[in-house]
Amino acid sequence: MDYKNHIALKLSEYIEMDVDSIERLIEIPPRTEMGDFAFPCFQLAKIMRKAPNSIAIELKEKFPREGFEKVETFGPYLNFFVDKSVFIGATIEKILKDGDSYGRTNVGEGKNVIVEYSSPNIAKPFHVGHLFTTVIGNSLYKIFKFQGYNAIGINHLGDWGTQFGKLISAYKRWGKEDALQKEPITELLRIYVKFHDEAENNPELEDEGRMYFKKLEDGDKEAVELWNRFRELSLKEFSSLYKTLNVEFDSYAGESFYSDKMDEVVKEIEDKGLLVESNGAKVVMLEEYNMPPCIIKKADGATIYATRDLAAAFYRKKTYDFYKNIYVVGKDQTLHFKQVFTTIKLMGHKWAEHCNHVDFGLVRFADKKLSTRKGDVILLDDLLNEAVAKTLDTINEKNPSLENKEEVAKKVGIGAIIFAYLKNNREKDIVFDWKEMLSFEGETGPYVQYTYARGKSILRKVEDSSEAVNYSMLSSKEEFELVKELQGFQGAIEAAVDKLQPSMVTRYVIEVAKAFNKFYNAHNILSSEDKDIKNARINLVKATLQVIENGLKLIGLDVVEKM
Ligand code: ARG
Repeated sequence: MDYKNHIALKLSEYIEMDVDSIERLIEIPPRTEMGDFAFPCFQLAKIMRKAPNSIAIELKEKFPREGFEKVETFGPYLNFFVDKSVFIGATIEKILKDGDSYGRTNVGEGKNVIVEYSSPNIAKPFHVGHLFTTVIGNSLYKIFKFQGYNAIGINHLGDWGTQFGKLISAYKRWGKEDALQKEPITELLRIYVKFHDEAENNPELEDEGRMYFKKLEDGDKEAVELWNRFRELSLKEFSSLYKTLNVEFDSYAGESFYSDKMDEVVKEIEDKGLLVESNGAKVVMLEEYNMPPCIIKKADGATIYATRDLAAAFYRKKTYDFYKNIYVVGKDQTLHFKQVFTTIKLMGHKWAEHCNHVDFGLVRFADKKLSTRKGDVILLDDLLNEAVAKTLDTINEKNPSLENKEEVAKKVGIGAIIFAYLKNNREKDIVFDWKEMLSFEGETGPYVQYTYARGKSILRKVEDSSEAVNYSMLSSKEEFELVKELQGFQGAIEAAVDKLQPSMVTRYVIEVAKAFNKFYNAHNILSSEDKDIKNARINLVKATLQVIENGLKLIGLDVVEKM
């Protein structure tokens, strides 16, 4: 039974509020003594012109007791204590019946949600900072889909701009063909860094770079060919990373895709009288919003990052008529997105409000901030390899005879990194700590995956039976607490959608694993004193594993059967 819905339905018979609104008000009390669900009567006080406390008492009298042990009031709250055995049975049966659809809804039906994520710059290494946007976006994309939204995953590649003029100039001066073949991004980074070093003493290089970008924008054959090669080679490297991470996109329409779609937007800005000249550049003034101007065209006529983002937003509106247009990009670009969204608003488009910058904190590793300019970056490849190698060491130590060790180490090691990224609110900075995140204990990916494998090993020892299960046998505190956790999956997903925080799901999965381990440690499942108890506990294990699996999938992790 869906208790929230049941309670809301019943309450709606006595109060003037629709079922959905009531359902949204129903809370899970922080302490078990306060019941399993609570309905606050404050909002009703206004409608009914009565004190919330007396409304609570009134409702308590009327509410039908079926399915509940008791209903009580607690000041302005109406508190529901569910009939535990009915609750436990209904929850477990629902999970087992729904299987990998447990938690799925269609609330988003008919709504297009764009999730833009990853968006690395071509010709530059994909670093651990890009991993942050990749895993957050991938998770949001999956969560939206699970809730019935039509999610569209876009990789807004950084593949256009003056830097490619510089790169062309650098390649023509210092590029090595064989190195480019062998390790494209390393070679492109080498010449890019060299360009910047040389330009410090030779500012004319900057002009040359600008000149090549102009050529690129004008479609010059040689420039376009070089750029295309840089792009293709970079994409090949990124694709293999995405494969390792099991991340997919519906579109790779990056900055270059908009190179021919900017004029239209610029014209609209101009027609609406918003384009002004400032030091030779064309800008939109935003001082009334306490922001520096949004630059649309530079003094040399070249368009910039913001112009391409404006074109992209209009294109997306036209193509997908989005309900939400989400940009998963680091905090350092907050001003940029504010400028872009405000410009759209000034142009008179209300949908500017549906554009959403989903930001996140910094990733630090041993006190270093990650940057690509000077070349002292931590490459994602190295990071993932190290996680897998370290996990393999742990497996060799704990379970040397495990089959498919490499395969397991991959899922667990890479999973540990993704998990560490999605464990806390995305705004929080991440400091990498190998020991902590790879540990099989504590709030980590390996801990949750290990919990799953542990449950699986129990299930391997029992035969499937189709006997009816008597759930009233599950009468301990640990069992009830675990089932309550399992019942809360939907709420965790809703919170993740509401706040655009995958961490809501990650934290939820951690709580499920903790509750499972408490249950596991307190009760002997396989040698339970009674056959009925054993069968009921086995179904509880099955249901728990299903929920862990569904939850992990939403944050981009796989389960492992053994580890
Ligand atoms: N390519 C940019 C970077 O790596 C991120 C792009 C963000 N998305 C956007 N629509 N501007 O910093």
